[in-house]
Amino acid sequence: MRIVLLGPPGAGKGTQAEFICHHYGIPKISTGDMLRAAVAAHTPIGQKMKKIMEEGRLASDDLIIDLVKERLTAPDCKPGYLFDGFPRTVPQANAMEALKMGLDVVIELTVPDEVLISRLSGRRIHLNSGRVYHVQFNPPKIDNRDDETGEPLIHREDDYEETIRKRLQVYHQQTEPLIHWFKERALFHPYFQISGEDSLESIQQKIMDILKNIRPKG
Ligand code: AP5
Repeated sequence: MRIVLLGPPGAGKGTQAEFICHHYGIPKISTGDMLRAAVAAHTPIGQKMKKIMEEGRLASDDLIIDLVKERLTAPDCKPGYLFDGFPRTVPQANAMEALKMGLDVVIELTVPDEVLISRLSGRRIHLNSGRVYHVQFNPPKIDNRDDETGEPLIHREDDYEETIRKRLQVYHQQTEPLIHWFKERALFHPYFQISGEDSLESIQQKIMDILKNIRPKG
């Protein structure tokens, strides 16, 4: 199964991705997680990306396309994968299409901007795994600790209101055109839009209902 989850920052892509990937035994390819890991490890890419991410701007298309191409060569991608946060621009989508990977389905989560701001302000993440929590809507079992490892959670540098607003602006300008791009290709990979405003469980169920009717291209 090869899946793209599309939607604005805070729509719940990472949260739902975790469940889907666990269910299907496929890796989550989150370009955001990959870049945050590079920042934490102080790699040359990380040093370049730190300020860009803190300001809510996007990485260059070339950098992202190279990262994704390399990631797809890993053996765990053989049974499929889920893209979370990629593609994010039309050039990235064109590059993905050129790889002829045989995408199976695109699912868009829609959530209004004001709800996104409250979600992102309360989000906490486990840096090493990318597991996502919310202080109110999806709290960890122990305050500020990851459920699986017990390690401390972090408040992302880009999850403060001014940067969240910038990220939403970037989403509307640069990523939203992909909705039209994918819909134009719905013959090749079906496109579903679901509200990301319901409960976590209800969204999970809707996604499962979609995926159980998808026949992977193989
Ligand atoms: P990235 O990490 O991809 O961030 P994003 O797309 O902005 O998405 P988020 O991770 O913020 O949100 P999400 O939809 O995953 O929501 P989540 O599940 O966490 O990118 C970060 C940066 O990296 C970018 O700004 C850019 O600089 C760079 N970058 C990454 N990819 C790039 C690319 N391809 N090209 C260029 N640059 C790139 O949920 C949010 C919160 O809401 C959580 O607290 C969660 O618990 C809660 N929540 C989730 N669902 C619900 C619900 N149904 N009800 C209530 N609360 C909920």
